[in-house]
Amino acid sequence: MLDESIQELEAGSLARIARAQSPEELEAVRVEVLGRKGGALAQVSKDMGKLAPEERARIGKLLNGAKQKLEDALAAKKGQFDEADLRARLDGEWIDLTLPAPGPRRGHLHPITRIQRELEDLFVSLGFTVLDGPEVETEYYNFDALNIPADHPARDMQDTFWLDGGNLLRTHTSPVQVRGMERLGPPLRMIAPGRAFRNESVDASHEHTFYQLEGMMIDREVSVAHLLYFMKTLLTAIFHREATVRLRPGYFPFVEPGFELDIQCLICGGAGCPVCKQSGWVELLPCGLVNPQVLRLSGIDPGAWNGFAFGLGLTRLAMMRYAIDDIRHLQGGDLRFLEQF
Ligand code: DAH
Repeated sequence: MLDESIQELEAGSLARIARAQSPEELEAVRVEVLGRKGGALAQVSKDMGKLAPEERARIGKLLNGAKQKLEDALAAKKGQFDEADLRARLDGEWIDLTLPAPGPRRGHLHPITRIQRELEDLFVSLGFTVLDGPEVETEYYNFDALNIPADHPARDMQDTFWLDGGNLLRTHTSPVQVRGMERLGPPLRMIAPGRAFRNESVDASHEHTFYQLEGMMIDREVSVAHLLYFMKTLLTAIFHREATVRLRPGYFPFVEPGFELDIQCLICGGAGCPVCKQSGWVELLPCGLVNPQVLRLSGIDPGAWNGFAFGLGLTRLAMMRYAIDDIRHLQGGDLRFLEQF
């Protein structure tokens, strides 16, 4: 009788194991059949107590055989589930080892730096030297040596950040002209790109910190025609096309005559926008022939030498070239803006 129930139990359980659809179902069968307490096989072995000793040994053997078979079947089935699981995971998570690695993210140059370098290359090719000067300047270099004495109204045109001890943050790159004349003497061809600072309220077209590129050429019999030639060469190089310009008289104590070279606003095409203050034109390039007094102050004989100078607004130029409508973007450090260039 016990023989039969063991055989039935074995066959039935093997069938259930074979049919199991999930590890959970398999585990349920295991507990039901092989569980130590209340499992079907455990139940049978309890009944063995009533048997005669030789019968008990035979049934015991039978029971162990069945238990072993069921354990093997369970392990095999579990192996199948594990393998299927692994295969599914590998299919879902595979990595293509032949793909190139992403590599480190590379930065790039700021739009102003790019324009600055292009202009440096251009002017170097025209025989100019690139000079650097301090951002913290003395009153002498920023004003006096440029023919702007203390009581001169032109000092009020530039709202200056004064520092302790009478020094200041340079309000333009023009002091580097003076340093260039002192250091190199005539004949001289120099440019000086760099930052300048003014105590201004900030809006779409004004910043307290901005970039200029100063230029100066001193030689024998330099004329306005020379000046215009270099300015046109410069603008064509930057905009890769003829920019519409106009020349107005402009006043700067360090040049005589002085001019304002304006460029038609490339953002609005001359119709008027915040950058050109609705005028259609942008002041880009103040320039002129060097005032003899400036030469004299730096020890150059104005009877023998003369020259031209210009102070290009690099920040404005970058805004025109890249159609940037708000100057504050340039120093804002927002990568969403910078990554467009
Ligand atoms: N330094 C002047 C400024 O920032 C610009 C300037 C005007 C520079 C005329 C020059 C020049 O060299 O000749 O307002």
